[in-house]
Amino acid sequence: MDKQKALARIQQLRGELQAHNYRYYQLAAPVISDFEFDQLLRELEMLEKEFPEFLSPNSPTQRVGGEITREFNSVRHKYPMLSLDNTYSEAELREFDNRVARLLAGPYEYVCELKIDGVSISLIYENGALVQAITRGDGIQGDDVTANVKTIHGVPLVLERGDYPVSFEVRGEIFMPRAGFDRMNRQREEDGEQPFANPRNATAGTLKTQDSKLVARRPLDIFVYFLLGEKIAGDSHFERLNMLRKWGFKVCDIKSRCQGIEEVIRFIEEVGESRSQLDFDIDGVVIKVNAIDQQNKLGFTSKSPRWAIAYKYKAEEAGTRLISIDFQVGRTGTVTPVANLEPVFLSGTTVKRATLHNADVMAALDVRSGDTVIIEKGGEIIPKITAVDYSARSADSRPFAFISHCPECGTELRRNEGEAAWYCPNETGCPPQIKGKLVHFIARKAMNIDSLGEGKIEMLYDSGLVRNIADLYDLTYDKLLGLEKVITGEDGKEKKISFREKTVQNILNGLENSKSVPFERVLFALGIRFVGETVAKKLARHYRSIDNLSRATADELVTVDEIGEKIAGSVINFFADQRNNELIDRLKGVGIQFQSSEGPMLQTNELGGKTFVVSGVFASFTRDGIKSVIEANGGKVSSSISSKTDFVVAGENMGPEKRRKAESLGVKIINEDEFKGLIGA
Ligand code: IVH
Repeated sequence: MDKQKALARIQQLRGELQAHNYRYYQLAAPVISDFEFDQLLRELEMLEKEFPEFLSPNSPTQRVGGEITREFNSVRHKYPMLSLDNTYSEAELREFDNRVARLLAGPYEYVCELKIDGVSISLIYENGALVQAITRGDGIQGDDVTANVKTIHGVPLVLERGDYPVSFEVRGEIFMPRAGFDRMNRQREEDGEQPFANPRNATAGTLKTQDSKLVARRPLDIFVYFLLGEKIAGDSHFERLNMLRKWGFKVCDIKSRCQGIEEVIRFIEEVGESRSQLDFDIDGVVIKVNAIDQQNKLGFTSKSPRWAIAYKYKAEEAGTRLISIDFQVGRTGTVTPVANLEPVFLSGTTVKRATLHNADVMAALDVRSGDTVIIEKGGEIIPKITAVDYSARSADSRPFAFISHCPECGTELRRNEGEAAWYCPNETGCPPQIKGKLVHFIARKAMNIDSLGEGKIEMLYDSGLVRNIADLYDLTYDKLLGLEKVITGEDGKEKKISFREKTVQNILNGLENSKSVPFERVLFALGIRFVGETVAKKLARHYRSIDNLSRATADELVTVDEIGEKIAGSVINFFADQRNNELIDRLKGVGIQFQSSEGPMLQTNELGGKTFVVSGVFASFTRDGIKSVIEANGGKVSSSISSKTDFVVAGENMGPEKRRKAESLGVKIINEDEFKGLIGA
């Protein structure tokens, strides 16, 4: 295909894909199948690959992410991002209305909207294309998270229809729908990762993720609620919301024009009753004066508009009876007290259990079996007990003593100084710890043995075939074939499941394939306390082999970027235990990767003792690459500039904030060539 034809086709495909995206995500009314959509997208991808000169940052192909942001540039908001005055009381709402009435001295109406519980964002459009997305930050300046926001399908990259101004800003809320949140958290737990506490935290965490590919996989969505810029059309807020929708933005349907405060209060009550059925979290209702000239008349205080207020719902509470307290033992041995409750309906779900966190929390509440307790569903997934009705307590109730021995294996519990949690130290003999470690080992982000899952691990453990991670690799066809377990199905009937040929072959293949999993993931899979995915990566890149790592002293470990005393102590303890070294030897014996195959070795010590901050884009290094080179030559990389920084290596597009900070602290700024000079390259 010649260039001109290619460009024409590219433009046609972009237009079509954009229209389908709009129909799918904004209108929820697709006219082609997912398959057909993917075909068009693939064709566009191929053409853009063949003709990279036609690549465009706002092409529909850019939704998948890919850009890595090492540090988010701090950007000043053109218009400050104000917050809203808020109240929990109807009386204060009426006061607000009285004030509005007094100041306007004439008829007015309100628009009531949902107060979406997410993360606010400012989207800047120029000539109908998204150019920048900035977080609220402190309201004056926020972080540039454009690459991440571009992966959110609800955010139009290019506006198609309408008479939008050449340049304008849209404010809105990015959030994670509950269904997507639940799905993601389940996956995280399966992968041995910490689940997010609530959709809001998940959203905030996701927007600050450095790898936009990861962001693209998270189910984020958006509602916009504010349009600003110079000479914006529309005499009322409501009209502007309709304009925004016409241009392709997502505006929440649940909103209402209200004549007078009584109608506002009715709206608040109605939403309050149905909020548990929404597919996203809200924390209140926002009430705005509708007419723009009246908004202007009311103006702003230093912090918030006088023409709007947020009414917030109180966290929902319920009283119920505490039947008993269980103790759960996790993968790392931590013992968590969990209350079994008389079932009670709260915020849309029936609650039967609530966490009591740890012994200190239990003692502070003085909670006992049989107590009447108040539970609250705040931001957390698991409800918590906030209070005990001591007056309803029976005379023979006795203080509840925290257990002294592991409920699973009987070992005496221990507690580290300064930590709230009791734990079972019997790492290698306590069933939930062993099973938990095995499940963590096979997880997707660890050894990725997806032919095994929690259920199969349970069977292997119960049969006695597998008691530790190395035992997995001693499994053979004959040992596995016909392995059985009786389970009780959802219908209450007992079923027998047994490993057939195909299952067995899949398990063995999965184990075999895991032998090529790179060292950094193997290190994560070992399940060393406090060594999560990121820490494992850092350690693997720095030490490059398990042998180097096992010889490191605590003093050395803490010089590695992001490794503190707690992690260092845990690593030292791990290798001090001979049983762990034996496991590693067995795993080495079957061919598991305990060495990195890529990345530079410690080459020189030219940069020994020097701390670097890197910023911007480099010609001959990727961002990770330059960091590895610094570390490989004995230097340390830090993410923020301080008086301890020796050099800032400035690439192209270095953030202006960084430059200012470096200059004000007198930190030396060097360019890429000067950096190469330092290591004699
Ligand atoms: S209007 C100048 N409308 O609540 C007025 N804000 O406490 C700007 N929020 O930072 C805000 N839903 O993140 C507005 N329908 C809505 C909202 C909303 C959620 C958030 C927003 C803002 C915070 C104010």
